[in-house]
Amino acid sequence: MKSTAPNHIAIVMDGNGRWATRRFLPRVAGHKSGVDSLRRCVRACVVRGVAVLTVFAFSSENWNRPKDEVSGLMELLVRALSREVPQLVADGVRLHFLGERGALSGAVRAGLERAEAATAANTSLILNVCFNYGGRWDIVQAANALAERGEAINEQSLGAAMQLGQVPEPDLIIRTGGEQRISNFLLWQAAYSELYFCDTLWPEFDEKALDTAIAEYGQRERRFGKTSDQLRAPATSQQAA
Ligand code: FPP
Repeated sequence: MKSTAPNHIAIVMDGNGRWATRRFLPRVAGHKSGVDSLRRCVRACVVRGVAVLTVFAFSSENWNRPKDEVSGLMELLVRALSREVPQLVADGVRLHFLGERGALSGAVRAGLERAEAATAANTSLILNVCFNYGGRWDIVQAANALAERGEAINEQSLGAAMQLGQVPEPDLIIRTGGEQRISNFLLWQAAYSELYFCDTLWPEFDEKALDTAIAEYGQRERRFGKTSDQLRAPATSQQAA
């Protein structure tokens, strides 16, 4: 079995609310536990040599949740950043935030900018946190950016203008929590990603669960539109054919 870790893993961290509700806790307690799980996952990715980890922390649609949950998530982000950045620096993790920042409060925006600046020189792992992010928004903002610059819109230029334009597309997209949908995550970039769904709620997603996902990924044949025979054939015989 191929055990090489994917270069880029993306995760929909679903199930925090159910984890909390089952314990008679407020939903925000589930998100708090979700931060612990994210910390564990980041370290595991560093150890396994993953180059890029992209996580969905707050979607464009999450504003529709109850007010106290939204404000709880904002506070959690700011507190988590000031607490976690020193360890992220020690582990060589570079933070990037993807999403529309205009709708965030000044304090949240300042927190994101501080964390990005403090980790800018790190090279072990790029951690992209999608916050107030939506896949449709990303496509539209990229098209608008190209139009404003008067540049042609094609697959290459649009891909480069997207929020993840500077890194390779995700090899593996994991969704925890039992649902099997993409929920407006990386719509453009997911074109050839392998999808992996598991029932584990995000706060319970540990190193073993990550290794199970990576092992399943290792079993997949990524054909990118080709046939299995073409993939198996040596390059010279393909050219001759
Ligand atoms: C989805 O679970 C999870 C979220 C909307 C938030 C994800 C956030 C974290 C994992 C914490 C990290 C966040 C920051 C701020 C760095 P859900 O609430 O939809 O769960 P449910 O489907 O069980 O209700």
